[in-house]
Amino acid sequence: MLSLVLVLATLGCWVLSGRALAPNDRITRKVRRIGATDLRRRLGLARRNDEVGRLATTLDEMLARLEATFAQQQAFTAAASHELRTPLTIVQGNLDVLLGRPRRPAEYRKALREMRGEVGRLSDLVEDLLTLARADSGTAQLARDLVALDTVAAAACSDVRPLAQHGGIALELISTPDLLVMGDGQRLRHMLLNLLDNAICYTPPGGMVCVSLEAPGMSAYLRVADTGIGIAPDDVTHIFDRFYRADAARGRASGGAGLGLAIVRWCVEAHGGTIGVESQVGHGTTFTVTLPLALAAEDDEDCPDPHAPAV
Ligand SMILES: Nc1ncnc2c1ncn2[C@@H]1O[C@H](COP(=O)(O)OP(=O)(O)O)[C@@H](O)[C@H]1O
Ligand SMILES: [Mg+2]
Repeated sequence: MLSLVLVLATLGCWVLSGRALAPNDRITRKVRRIGATDLRRRLGLARRNDEVGRLATTLDEMLARLEATFAQQQAFTAAASHELRTPLTIVQGNLDVLLGRPRRPAEYRKALREMRGEVGRLSDLVEDLLTLARADSGTAQLARDLVALDTVAAAACSDVRPLAQHGGIALELISTPDLLVMGDGQRLRHMLLNLLDNAICYTPPGGMVCVSLEAPGMSAYLRVADTGIGIAPDDVTHIFDRFYRADAARGRASGGAGLGLAIVRWCVEAHGGTIGVESQVGHGTTFTVTLPLALAAEDDEDCPDPHAPAV
């Protein structure tokens, strides 16, 4: 009798544990079948109102995030390839023309100049792609120095002054001395150069670009205002996306690949700051970068350790 009870109990346990583990096995089998190419599949067990259901829901949500990231990466690779192909095609076309038959010296010079311009665009693009790749992987090197923002603003303005003059645009700098932030002076200068480059590029001759720097409280406000073509409300929400260019900008001969503002935003956020934009089509655009000030009291305590690893 006892042995019969034991056999029945063992059988019962076996059936019950099999039932309890069956959904887990189903999940395991389904997850194993999902590869990188079919991230659209879902487990579809979310209706169960128990631990298994919650686990399945969590896994489905993770799959959705993976799918979105994969799609983003694919779009990024396609856009990058397209941007790289355009200058390469121009260089190749020029080379074919030059090698087709002997040319006059002036023709060689013209083609070489054009190729130099395209190679410049290519190396800028590769540099931007590298910056974003390092930003994504967290391996971008950022110095932690005390940086005087007025020096950064003055340097960036003098860098772009010839460009502004060439475009018939007045460039003004309204600065405030002794505003210190903790960070990477070179990167901050590059960030401001990107904003200035856009302001000049998207402002017609006769217009004005004004850089201003002030700190009414604990933060520094760095503004780049222009009287240019402006940005439509639908575009404003996308201009910080990689490779995004508004239609009005696309029509113009100048301008980059649409990576500049993505890098600007990364740089500002890596410095603990924020960036905002206000724009009116046909009237102009103002970008405002807000950066936390390095306070004098902190300077003594938090003096950057020259041997500390860069972030
Ligand atoms: N100052 C500005 N005035 C008008 N449009 C701007 C301005 N700055 C940026 N934009 C818009 O934002 C887009 C993205 O800028 P950015 O990332 O620097 O790319 P790019 O300059 O290479 O086109 C530009 O293509 C343009 O449409
Ligand atoms: Mg740009």
